[in-house]
Amino acid sequence: MKIPVANPDIGKEEEEYVLNAVRSGWISSQGPYVKEFEKSFANFIGVKHAIAVSNGTVALHLALLALGVTHISEVIVPDLTFASPANMVLLTGAKPIFVDVNRDYWCLDPVKVKEAITDKTKVIIAVHLYGHPADMDQIIEAANENGLLVIEDAAEAHGAEYKNTRVGSMGDIGVFSFFGNKIITTGEGGMVVTNDDELADKIRLMRDHGMRPRYWHVTIGFNYRMTNIQAAIGLAQLSKIKKLIAIKNKIAKIYSDILKDVPGIELHPNMPWASPSYWLYSILVDKKEFGLSRDELITELKKKGIDTRRFFYPLHLMPVFKPYVNKISDYPISTYLSEHGINLPSGPRISEEEVITVAETIKKLHKENIR
Ligand SMILES: Cc1ncc(COP(=O)(O)O)c(C=O)c1O
Repeated sequence: MKIPVANPDIGKEEEEYVLNAVRSGWISSQGPYVKEFEKSFANFIGVKHAIAVSNGTVALHLALLALGVTHISEVIVPDLTFASPANMVLLTGAKPIFVDVNRDYWCLDPVKVKEAITDKTKVIIAVHLYGHPADMDQIIEAANENGLLVIEDAAEAHGAEYKNTRVGSMGDIGVFSFFGNKIITTGEGGMVVTNDDELADKIRLMRDHGMRPRYWHVTIGFNYRMTNIQAAIGLAQLSKIKKLIAIKNKIAKIYSDILKDVPGIELHPNMPWASPSYWLYSILVDKKEFGLSRDELITELKKKGIDTRRFFYPLHLMPVFKPYVNKISDYPISTYLSEHGINLPSGPRISEEEVITVAETIKKLHKENIR
């Protein structure tokens, strides 16, 4: 592929910090970079505590356990997301309740959330999909009215803001992923954030085998720690996060400017209350007006060396999650978005010329294929 969907921006600073970590001998999860990365990330998000972990999936697992989710709980999960939230709910023994997303901004629909709440519901997981925030005021209102707790899954939205507040800081717990294609990366890695001292303490304890003091186990625990080497990369990445988000937003602006008048293309949302951090700039493709279906567009772009991704599949359709679905007809929006959505190249190392090439190629494909 000449133009990949995403590629990390790893430079001199990452190299230097990693070398420091390796040379210091602190290559496991003890070592100064882990603590520094946690402190700086908490500052950046605007929360009291940040707990570094081995990936975003285990961050969700710890968040659910810390909030007291058990086999008798139900947890609300958006139907359109990467599957980690649903998998982690199942790992706790709880039942995931899939709720459709909002047509305007692609995240959990608060009206449908309210309809899905039962006396077993314990937690709502709001995913900030593809860098656009969920409507947190409405989600939190639904939670408060029903005595529920909220996890923000900000794996795809580092630095995005909802009404001038960074995502991850509004729910009871926020989680992040630092996988290689994310806005900042540690290779593999994740973070749990919270303002609650007690929750932070529980999460740290479970992350470190549930031991306190050493070799005395007070709760079921895991080894979900981040290494000092990963944290070294993370700290270097964090020092340039504002630049990385600015690049994403510039990429989004170029795509939006060129594609806004192309028939059959719907642009990545940007609600008045949101400052997205376009992790992957995305569009919806309507064959009738555009001339090609989403899948045909992916194939044509691939022939020209341009890598793209189809949207996630709706969770309710997958065999592993089907046993937990009540009524299949309840998901018209996630089904539509999943069939029409495409993520365009948005990596931090893509040049402006390459973004223009991708957008102009899409425009040209419309002209060549519409009758
Ligand atoms: C919304 C969401 N939640 C959780 C995760 C899991 O993160 P990780 O890949 O670091 O386990 C991802 C994916 O990467 C994601 O997109």
